[in-house]
Amino acid sequence: MHNIVIYGCIGIFGGAIMEKIIVEGGKKLTGEVSVTGAKNAVLPILAATVIGANESTIFNVPNLRDVDVMEKILLSLGCNVKRMDKMMWVDSKPLYNIKIPEELVREMRSSIILMGAMLARAGEVVVSYPGGCEIGPRPIDMHLKALRELGAEIEESHGFIYAKADELKGCEIQLDYPSVGATENIILAATRAKGTTIIRNAAREPEIVDLQNYLNKAGAKVSGAGTSVVIIEGVDKFHDVTHTTMPDRIVAGTYMVASAITGGEIVIKNIVIDHLQATIAKLKEAGSLIYYDNSSLKIVGPKRINSIDMIQTLPYPGFPTDMQAQMMALLTIANGTSIISETVFENRFKHAEELIRMGANIKIFGNVAVIKGVKELTGAKITAKDLRGGACLVLAGLAAKGITVVENVYHIERGYENFHEELRKLGANIKKVN
Ligand code: UD1
Repeated sequence: MHNIVIYGCIGIFGGAIMEKIIVEGGKKLTGEVSVTGAKNAVLPILAATVIGANESTIFNVPNLRDVDVMEKILLSLGCNVKRMDKMMWVDSKPLYNIKIPEELVREMRSSIILMGAMLARAGEVVVSYPGGCEIGPRPIDMHLKALRELGAEIEESHGFIYAKADELKGCEIQLDYPSVGATENIILAATRAKGTTIIRNAAREPEIVDLQNYLNKAGAKVSGAGTSVVIIEGVDKFHDVTHTTMPDRIVAGTYMVASAITGGEIVIKNIVIDHLQATIAKLKEAGSLIYYDNSSLKIVGPKRINSIDMIQTLPYPGFPTDMQAQMMALLTIANGTSIISETVFENRFKHAEELIRMGANIKIFGNVAVIKGVKELTGAKITAKDLRGGACLVLAGLAAKGITVVENVYHIERGYENFHEELRKLGANIKKVN
Protein backbone atom coordinates (compact mmCIF):
# COMPACT_ATOMS: atom_id res chain seq x y z
CA MET A 1 0.00 0.00 0.00
CA HIS A 2 2.72 2.48 0.92
CA ASN A 3 4.91 2.84 -2.14
CA ILE A 4 4.74 6.63 -2.47
CA VAL A 5 5.41 8.74 0.55
CA ILE A 6 5.06 12.45 1.03
CA TYR A 7 6.20 14.38 4.05
CA GLY A 8 6.12 17.90 5.20
CA CYS A 9 4.31 21.22 5.37
CA ILE A 10 5.76 24.24 3.68
CA GLY A 11 3.78 27.37 4.43
CA ILE A 12 2.83 29.82 1.69
CA PHE A 13 1.37 32.03 4.36
CA GLY A 14 4.71 33.59 5.35
CA GLY A 15 4.35 35.61 8.52
CA ALA A 16 1.43 33.56 9.82
CA ILE A 17 3.94 30.90 10.82
CA MET A 18 5.09 33.20 13.61
CA GLU A 19 1.66 33.50 15.23
CA LYS A 20 1.21 32.07 18.71
CA ILE A 21 -1.77 31.29 20.89
CA ILE A 22 -1.25 32.21 24.53
CA VAL A 23 -3.61 30.66 27.04
CA GLU A 24 -3.80 30.85 30.79
CA GLY A 25 -5.41 27.67 32.05
CA GLY A 26 -7.91 27.07 34.80
CA LYS A 27 -11.11 28.66 33.50
CA LYS A 28 -14.24 26.51 33.25
CA LEU A 29 -15.71 27.12 29.80
CA THR A 30 -19.39 27.92 29.61
CA GLY A 31 -21.76 29.22 26.97
CA GLU A 32 -22.74 28.44 23.42
CA VAL A 33 -20.80 27.80 20.26
CA SER A 34 -22.08 27.19 16.76
CA VAL A 35 -20.21 24.75 14.55
CA THR A 36 -18.99 25.86 11.11
CA GLY A 37 -19.27 23.96 7.82
CA ALA A 38 -17.07 20.89 7.53
CA LYS A 39 -13.61 21.40 6.03
CA ASN A 40 -13.44 17.81 4.87
CA ALA A 41 -16.78 18.12 3.10
CA VAL A 42 -16.31 21.51 1.50
CA LEU A 43 -12.88 20.76 0.02
CA PRO A 44 -14.00 17.84 -2.18
CA ILE A 45 -17.18 19.75 -3.06
CA LEU A 46 -15.13 22.74 -4.20
CA ALA A 47 -12.95 20.37 -6.21
CA ALA A 48 -16.15 18.97 -7.74
CA THR A 49 -17.23 22.43 -8.91
CA VAL A 50 -14.76 22.19 -11.82
CA ILE A 51 -16.42 19.10 -13.31
CA GLY A 52 -19.59 20.46 -14.81
CA ALA A 53 -18.72 23.77 -16.54
CA ASN A 54 -21.55 25.10 -14.40
CA GLU A 55 -22.17 27.56 -11.60
CA SER A 56 -22.09 26.32 -8.02
CA THR A 57 -23.22 28.37 -5.05
CA ILE A 58 -21.99 26.79 -1.84
CA PHE A 59 -23.22 27.98 1.54
CA ASN A 60 -21.81 27.38 5.01
CA VAL A 61 -18.25 27.56 3.70
CA PRO A 62 -15.89 27.90 6.67
CA ASN A 63 -13.22 30.60 6.70
CA LEU A 64 -10.15 28.39 6.84
CA ARG A 65 -6.69 28.40 5.37
CA ASP A 66 -7.36 25.15 3.48
CA VAL A 67 -10.43 26.73 1.89
CA ASP A 68 -8.30 29.76 0.93
CA VAL A 69 -5.86 27.39 -0.77
CA MET A 70 -8.68 25.66 -2.66
CA GLU A 71 -10.05 29.05 -3.75
CA LYS A 72 -6.59 29.96 -5.09
CA ILE A 73 -6.43 26.67 -6.98
CA LEU A 74 -9.84 27.23 -8.58
CA LEU A 75 -8.80 30.74 -9.62
CA SER A 76 -5.53 29.48 -11.06
CA LEU A 77 -7.42 26.95 -13.17
CA GLY A 78 -9.42 29.79 -14.69
CA CYS A 79 -12.68 29.52 -12.71
CA ASN A 80 -14.52 32.66 -11.66
CA VAL A 81 -14.84 32.64 -7.89
CA LYS A 82 -16.69 34.98 -5.57
CA ARG A 83 -16.62 34.65 -1.83
CA MET A 84 -18.81 36.56 0.54
CA ASP A 85 -18.94 35.74 4.20
CA LYS A 86 -19.85 32.02 4.25
CA MET A 87 -20.87 31.75 0.61
CA MET A 88 -18.67 30.74 -2.27
CA TRP A 89 -19.78 30.97 -5.88
CA VAL A 90 -17.76 29.15 -8.52
CA ASP A 91 -18.31 29.40 -12.25
CA SER A 92 -16.18 26.69 -13.85
CA LYS A 93 -17.11 27.46 -17.47
CA PRO A 94 -13.99 29.54 -18.17
CA LEU A 95 -11.59 26.86 -16.86
CA TYR A 96 -8.57 26.67 -19.21
CA ASN A 97 -5.58 25.52 -17.15
CA ILE A 98 -4.89 21.87 -16.33
CA LYS A 99 -1.91 22.34 -14.03
CA ILE A 100 -2.52 22.70 -10.32
CA PRO A 101 0.11 25.14 -8.95
CA GLU A 102 2.82 23.28 -7.11
CA GLU A 103 3.06 25.61 -4.12
CA LEU A 104 -0.68 25.23 -3.47
CA VAL A 105 -0.61 21.44 -3.72
CA ARG A 106 2.27 21.38 -1.28
CA GLU A 107 0.24 23.48 1.11
CA MET A 108 -2.75 21.18 1.13
CA ARG A 109 -2.63 17.46 0.58
CA SER A 110 -6.32 17.19 -0.26
CA SER A 111 -5.66 19.09 -3.50
CA ILE A 112 -5.01 15.59 -4.87
CA ILE A 113 -8.80 15.20 -5.22
CA LEU A 114 -8.57 17.71 -8.06
CA MET A 115 -7.12 14.81 -10.06
CA GLY A 116 -10.41 12.96 -10.34
CA ALA A 117 -12.37 16.16 -10.86
CA MET A 118 -10.04 17.50 -13.58
CA LEU A 119 -9.95 14.16 -15.39
CA ALA A 120 -13.74 14.26 -15.46
CA ARG A 121 -13.75 17.83 -16.74
CA ALA A 122 -10.74 18.19 -18.99
CA GLY A 123 -9.44 14.64 -19.48
CA GLU A 124 -6.07 15.87 -18.31
CA VAL A 125 -4.35 17.14 -15.18
CA VAL A 126 -0.84 17.87 -13.94
CA VAL A 127 -0.29 17.88 -10.22
CA SER A 128 2.79 17.71 -8.01
CA TYR A 129 2.98 15.22 -5.18
CA PRO A 130 0.78 16.61 -2.43
CA GLY A 131 1.83 18.07 0.90
CA GLY A 132 -0.25 18.01 4.05
CA CYS A 133 0.61 17.71 7.67
CA GLU A 134 3.14 15.76 9.58
CA ILE A 135 1.03 12.80 10.56
CA GLY A 136 3.17 10.27 8.81
CA PRO A 137 3.71 9.00 5.29
CA ARG A 138 0.95 10.15 2.95
CA PRO A 139 0.65 7.62 0.14
CA ILE A 140 -1.66 8.12 -2.82
CA ASP A 141 -1.13 4.73 -4.42
CA MET A 142 -4.80 3.76 -4.11
CA HIS A 143 -5.90 6.97 -5.82
CA LEU A 144 -3.57 6.39 -8.77
CA LYS A 145 -4.41 2.70 -9.10
CA ALA A 146 -8.14 3.42 -9.21
CA LEU A 147 -7.80 6.25 -11.72
CA ARG A 148 -5.77 3.92 -13.94
CA GLU A 149 -8.55 1.34 -13.66
CA LEU A 150 -10.95 3.99 -14.91
CA GLY A 151 -8.75 4.39 -17.97
CA ALA A 152 -6.42 7.23 -17.08
CA GLU A 153 -2.82 7.06 -18.23
CA ILE A 154 -0.66 8.28 -15.42
CA GLU A 155 3.03 9.11 -15.55
CA GLU A 156 5.01 10.06 -12.51
CA SER A 157 8.28 11.92 -12.92
CA HIS A 158 10.36 14.53 -11.11
CA GLY A 159 7.77 15.01 -8.39
CA PHE A 160 4.88 15.53 -10.82
CA ILE A 161 1.97 13.36 -11.80
CA TYR A 162 0.67 13.67 -15.36
CA ALA A 163 -2.74 12.08 -15.88
CA LYS A 164 -4.64 11.89 -19.15
CA ALA A 165 -7.73 10.08 -20.34
CA ASP A 166 -9.36 10.46 -23.75
CA GLU A 167 -12.32 8.71 -22.21
CA LEU A 168 -12.84 7.39 -18.69
CA LYS A 169 -14.75 4.12 -18.58
CA GLY A 170 -16.85 2.92 -15.65
CA CYS A 171 -15.47 -0.17 -13.90
CA GLU A 172 -15.53 -2.08 -10.62
CA ILE A 173 -12.97 -0.94 -8.09
CA GLN A 174 -12.13 -2.85 -4.94
CA LEU A 175 -10.27 -0.64 -2.47
CA ASP A 176 -7.67 -2.33 -0.25
CA TYR A 177 -8.62 0.09 2.53
CA PRO A 178 -11.62 2.43 2.85
CA SER A 179 -9.60 5.56 2.07
CA VAL A 180 -11.66 8.75 2.27
CA GLY A 181 -9.63 10.64 -0.33
CA ALA A 182 -9.42 7.72 -2.76
CA THR A 183 -13.19 7.11 -2.52
CA GLU A 184 -13.82 10.80 -3.28
CA ASN A 185 -11.33 10.90 -6.13
CA ILE A 186 -12.96 7.90 -7.78
CA ILE A 187 -16.47 9.32 -7.35
CA LEU A 188 -15.36 12.61 -8.93
CA ALA A 189 -13.64 10.96 -11.87
CA ALA A 190 -16.52 8.54 -12.47
CA THR A 191 -19.27 11.19 -12.58
CA ARG A 192 -18.70 11.75 -16.29
CA ALA A 193 -17.17 8.37 -17.22
CA LYS A 194 -18.85 6.17 -19.77
CA GLY A 195 -20.99 3.58 -17.98
CA THR A 196 -21.23 2.56 -14.36
CA THR A 197 -18.52 2.52 -11.70
CA ILE A 198 -18.86 0.49 -8.54
CA ILE A 199 -16.55 1.15 -5.58
CA ARG A 200 -16.35 -1.67 -3.06
CA ASN A 201 -14.90 -1.19 0.43
CA ALA A 202 -15.57 2.52 -0.04
CA ALA A 203 -15.04 4.87 2.91
CA ARG A 204 -18.35 5.56 4.69
CA GLU A 205 -17.60 9.00 6.14
CA PRO A 206 -20.52 11.50 6.24
CA GLU A 207 -18.44 13.92 4.16
CA ILE A 208 -18.75 11.48 1.25
CA VAL A 209 -22.52 11.62 1.61
CA ASP A 210 -22.31 15.42 1.43
CA LEU A 211 -20.24 15.15 -1.76
CA GLN A 212 -22.82 12.77 -3.22
CA ASN A 213 -25.60 15.23 -2.35
CA TYR A 214 -23.82 18.11 -4.05
CA LEU A 215 -23.05 16.05 -7.15
CA ASN A 216 -26.57 14.69 -7.51
CA LYS A 217 -28.03 18.19 -7.23
CA ALA A 218 -25.71 19.16 -10.11
CA GLY A 219 -27.00 16.30 -12.25
CA ALA A 220 -24.66 13.41 -11.39
CA LYS A 221 -25.97 9.95 -10.56
CA VAL A 222 -24.22 8.74 -7.42
CA SER A 223 -25.75 6.36 -4.90
CA GLY A 224 -24.65 4.38 -1.87
CA ALA A 225 -22.46 7.02 -0.21
CA GLY A 226 -22.38 6.30 3.51
CA THR A 227 -22.23 2.57 2.80
CA SER A 228 -19.24 0.56 1.63
CA VAL A 229 -20.58 0.20 -1.93
CA VAL A 230 -20.86 3.41 -3.95
CA ILE A 231 -22.29 3.33 -7.46
CA ILE A 232 -21.69 6.08 -9.98
CA GLU A 233 -23.44 6.18 -13.33
CA GLY A 234 -21.63 8.50 -15.70
CA VAL A 235 -23.64 11.42 -17.11
CA ASP A 236 -22.88 13.95 -19.86
CA LYS A 237 -24.27 17.13 -18.48
CA PHE A 238 -24.16 19.03 -15.20
CA HIS A 239 -26.30 22.04 -14.35
CA ASP A 240 -26.11 24.98 -11.93
CA VAL A 241 -26.38 24.01 -8.30
CA THR A 242 -26.82 25.40 -4.79
CA HIS A 243 -25.61 23.44 -1.79
CA THR A 244 -25.16 23.95 1.95
CA THR A 245 -22.11 22.30 3.51
CA MET A 246 -22.71 19.87 6.38
CA PRO A 247 -21.51 20.82 9.91
CA ASP A 248 -17.98 19.93 10.95
CA ARG A 249 -18.10 16.93 13.29
CA ILE A 250 -14.43 17.32 14.28
CA VAL A 251 -14.82 20.98 15.23
CA ALA A 252 -17.87 19.94 17.30
CA GLY A 253 -15.88 17.15 18.95
CA THR A 254 -13.05 19.55 19.75
CA TYR A 255 -15.39 21.94 21.59
CA MET A 256 -16.85 18.96 23.43
CA VAL A 257 -13.38 18.14 24.72
CA ALA A 258 -12.89 21.82 25.65
CA SER A 259 -15.90 21.47 27.94
CA ALA A 260 -14.80 18.11 29.33
CA ILE A 261 -11.20 19.13 30.03
CA THR A 262 -12.19 22.34 31.88
CA GLY A 263 -15.12 20.83 33.80
CA GLY A 264 -17.26 23.33 31.91
CA GLU A 265 -20.74 23.38 30.45
CA ILE A 266 -20.99 24.14 26.76
CA VAL A 267 -23.93 24.05 24.36
CA ILE A 268 -22.85 23.16 20.84
CA LYS A 269 -25.17 24.12 18.01
CA ASN A 270 -25.43 23.26 14.33
CA ILE A 271 -24.36 19.63 14.61
CA VAL A 272 -25.61 16.34 13.19
CA ILE A 273 -25.83 14.16 16.25
CA ASP A 274 -25.41 10.86 14.39
CA HIS A 275 -21.98 11.97 13.19
CA LEU A 276 -20.79 12.46 16.76
CA GLN A 277 -21.79 9.18 18.40
CA ALA A 278 -18.29 7.66 18.61
CA THR A 279 -16.95 10.79 20.28
CA ILE A 280 -19.98 11.09 22.57
CA ALA A 281 -19.50 7.50 23.76
CA LYS A 282 -15.88 8.12 24.75
CA LEU A 283 -16.59 11.46 26.43
CA LYS A 284 -19.33 9.78 28.46
CA GLU A 285 -16.87 7.08 29.48
CA ALA A 286 -14.60 9.88 30.67
CA GLY A 287 -17.43 11.04 32.92
CA SER A 288 -19.07 13.85 30.91
CA LEU A 289 -22.81 14.28 30.94
CA ILE A 290 -24.16 14.82 27.45
CA TYR A 291 -27.72 15.81 26.51
CA TYR A 292 -28.73 16.19 22.90
CA ASP A 293 -31.33 16.49 20.21
CA ASN A 294 -30.69 16.18 16.47
CA SER A 295 -28.91 19.46 15.94
CA SER A 296 -27.47 20.58 19.26
CA LEU A 297 -25.99 19.16 22.42
CA LYS A 298 -24.98 20.20 25.89
CA ILE A 299 -21.91 18.72 27.49
CA VAL A 300 -21.13 19.04 31.18
CA GLY A 301 -17.54 18.18 31.97
CA PRO A 302 -16.77 15.81 34.85
CA LYS A 303 -15.36 16.96 38.21
CA ARG A 304 -12.72 14.24 37.93
CA ILE A 305 -12.02 12.79 34.48
CA ASN A 306 -12.21 8.98 34.24
CA SER A 307 -9.48 7.17 32.34
CA ILE A 308 -10.58 5.19 29.26
CA ASP A 309 -9.42 1.60 28.87
CA MET A 310 -9.10 1.79 25.10
CA ILE A 311 -9.70 4.23 22.27
CA GLN A 312 -9.02 2.71 18.89
CA THR A 313 -9.19 5.01 15.88
CA LEU A 314 -10.99 3.47 12.92
CA PRO A 315 -12.68 4.49 9.68
CA TYR A 316 -16.22 5.88 10.20
CA PRO A 317 -18.38 4.97 12.08
CA GLY A 318 -15.48 4.04 14.38
CA PHE A 319 -13.70 6.59 16.56
CA PRO A 320 -12.23 9.28 14.26
CA THR A 321 -8.48 9.62 13.99
CA ASP A 322 -9.11 13.38 13.72
CA MET A 323 -10.31 13.34 17.38
CA GLN A 324 -7.44 11.25 18.73
CA ALA A 325 -5.12 14.10 19.70
CA GLN A 326 -7.87 16.06 21.48
CA MET A 327 -8.85 12.96 23.51
CA MET A 328 -5.21 12.44 24.43
CA ALA A 329 -5.10 15.95 25.91
CA LEU A 330 -8.12 15.07 28.04
CA LEU A 331 -6.71 11.74 29.22
CA THR A 332 -3.43 13.29 30.39
CA ILE A 333 -5.31 14.50 33.49
CA ALA A 334 -7.64 11.52 33.91
CA ASN A 335 -7.84 9.46 37.04
CA GLY A 336 -5.91 6.35 35.94
CA THR A 337 -4.28 4.93 32.83
CA SER A 338 -5.73 5.06 29.31
CA ILE A 339 -4.67 3.48 26.05
CA ILE A 340 -5.04 4.91 22.57
CA SER A 341 -4.43 2.74 19.53
CA GLU A 342 -4.03 4.74 16.30
CA THR A 343 -4.83 2.41 13.42
CA VAL A 344 -5.54 4.90 10.62
CA PHE A 345 -2.31 6.89 10.32
CA GLU A 346 1.14 5.52 11.11
CA ASN A 347 2.72 8.46 12.83
CA ARG A 348 0.08 10.57 14.46
CA PHE A 349 1.39 11.05 17.98
CA LYS A 350 3.58 14.14 17.49
CA HIS A 351 1.46 16.05 20.01
CA ALA A 352 2.47 13.55 22.73
CA GLU A 353 6.02 14.97 22.95
CA GLU A 354 4.57 18.44 23.50
CA LEU A 355 2.06 17.22 26.10
CA ILE A 356 4.97 15.58 27.93
CA ARG A 357 6.66 19.01 28.09
CA MET A 358 3.55 20.14 29.96
CA GLY A 359 4.00 17.36 32.51
CA ALA A 360 1.92 14.59 30.91
CA ASN A 361 2.96 10.98 31.45
CA ILE A 362 2.70 9.34 28.01
CA LYS A 363 4.60 6.37 26.60
CA ILE A 364 4.41 5.57 22.91
CA PHE A 365 4.85 2.00 21.64
CA GLY A 366 4.51 2.12 17.85
CA ASN A 367 0.91 3.02 17.16
CA VAL A 368 -0.14 2.65 20.81
CA ALA A 369 -0.02 5.41 23.40
CA VAL A 370 -0.26 4.67 27.11
CA ILE A 371 -1.39 7.72 29.03
CA LYS A 372 -1.06 7.70 32.79
CA GLY A 373 -3.18 10.51 34.17
CA VAL A 374 -1.32 13.18 36.18
CA LYS A 375 -2.84 15.52 38.74
CA GLU A 376 -2.30 18.58 36.60
CA LEU A 377 -0.51 19.87 33.51
CA THR A 378 1.74 22.90 33.70
CA GLY A 379 1.86 25.66 31.11
CA ALA A 380 4.82 25.49 28.71
CA LYS A 381 6.06 26.79 25.37
CA ILE A 382 5.04 24.17 22.86
CA THR A 383 4.71 23.77 19.10
CA ALA A 384 1.77 22.68 16.96
CA LYS A 385 3.07 20.08 14.52
CA ASP A 386 -0.19 19.44 12.69
CA LEU A 387 -3.80 20.56 12.63
CA ARG A 388 -5.51 18.33 15.21
CA GLY A 389 -2.36 18.01 17.30
CA GLY A 390 -2.31 21.82 17.44
CA ALA A 391 -5.90 21.95 18.68
CA CYS A 392 -5.00 19.31 21.29
CA LEU A 393 -2.25 21.56 22.68
CA VAL A 394 -4.61 24.52 23.03
CA LEU A 395 -7.08 22.23 24.85
CA ALA A 396 -4.30 21.08 27.18
CA GLY A 397 -3.43 24.74 27.78
CA LEU A 398 -7.04 25.46 28.83
CA ALA A 399 -6.64 22.98 31.68
CA ALA A 400 -2.99 23.56 32.56
CA LYS A 401 -1.71 25.53 35.52
CA GLY A 402 -0.15 28.78 34.35
CA ILE A 403 0.54 30.02 30.85
CA THR A 404 0.87 27.92 27.71
CA VAL A 405 2.28 29.32 24.49
CA VAL A 406 1.38 27.33 21.36
CA GLU A 407 3.55 28.13 18.34
CA ASN A 408 2.82 27.48 14.66
CA VAL A 409 -0.82 28.45 14.95
CA TYR A 410 -1.15 28.32 11.15
CA HIS A 411 -1.61 24.55 11.44
CA ILE A 412 -4.69 25.08 13.64
CA GLU A 413 -6.12 27.66 11.24
CA ARG A 414 -6.17 25.10 8.45
CA GLY A 415 -9.19 23.57 10.17
CA TYR A 416 -10.65 25.85 12.87
CA GLU A 417 -12.28 29.20 12.23
CA ASN A 418 -11.49 31.81 14.92
CA PHE A 419 -10.52 29.07 17.36
CA HIS A 420 -9.01 31.30 20.04
CA GLU A 421 -11.82 33.84 19.62
CA GLU A 422 -14.54 31.19 20.09
CA LEU A 423 -12.76 29.82 23.15
CA ARG A 424 -12.42 33.34 24.53
CA LYS A 425 -16.17 33.85 24.14
CA LEU A 426 -16.66 30.67 26.15
CA GLY A 427 -14.62 32.23 28.95
CA ALA A 428 -11.07 31.12 28.20
CA ASN A 429 -8.23 33.46 29.01
CA ILE A 430 -6.70 33.23 25.56
CA LYS A 431 -5.25 35.42 22.81
CA LYS A 432 -3.33 35.20 19.57
CA VAL A 433 -0.17 37.23 19.07
CA ASN A 434 2.39 37.65 16.27
C1 UD1 B 1 -9.17 12.18 5.22
C2 UD1 B 1 -9.36 13.45 5.99
C3 UD1 B 1 -8.51 13.44 7.24
C4 UD1 B 1 -8.81 12.20 8.06
C5 UD1 B 1 -8.71 10.95 7.20
C6 UD1 B 1 -9.16 9.68 7.92
C7 UD1 B 1 -9.86 15.08 4.28
C8 UD1 B 1 -9.43 16.30 3.54
N1 UD1 B 1 -8.97 14.57 5.16
O1 UD1 B 1 -7.80 12.13 4.83
O2 UD1 B 1 -8.81 14.60 8.00
O3 UD1 B 1 -7.86 12.10 9.11
O4 UD1 B 1 -9.53 11.09 6.03
O5 UD1 B 1 -10.43 9.83 8.41
O6 UD1 B 1 -10.97 14.60 4.12
N2 UD1 B 1 -3.70 5.45 2.30
C9 UD1 B 1 -2.89 4.67 1.52
N3 UD1 B 1 -2.90 4.87 0.17
C10 UD1 B 1 -3.72 5.78 -0.43
C11 UD1 B 1 -4.56 6.57 0.38
C12 UD1 B 1 -4.55 6.38 1.75
O7 UD1 B 1 -2.14 3.85 2.01
O8 UD1 B 1 -3.69 5.89 -1.67
C13 UD1 B 1 -3.68 5.27 3.76
C14 UD1 B 1 -3.25 6.53 4.52
O9 UD1 B 1 -1.85 6.66 4.57
C15 UD1 B 1 -3.85 6.31 5.86
C16 UD1 B 1 -5.17 5.59 5.53
O10 UD1 B 1 -5.00 5.07 4.22
O11 UD1 B 1 -3.02 5.46 6.61
C17 UD1 B 1 -6.38 6.49 5.57
O12 UD1 B 1 -6.20 7.58 4.71
P1 UD1 B 1 -7.41 8.30 3.98
O13 UD1 B 1 -8.71 7.74 4.44
O14 UD1 B 1 -7.12 8.31 2.52
O15 UD1 B 1 -7.30 9.77 4.54
P2 UD1 B 1 -7.33 11.10 3.72
O16 UD1 B 1 -8.35 11.04 2.64
O17 UD1 B 1 -5.95 11.49 3.38
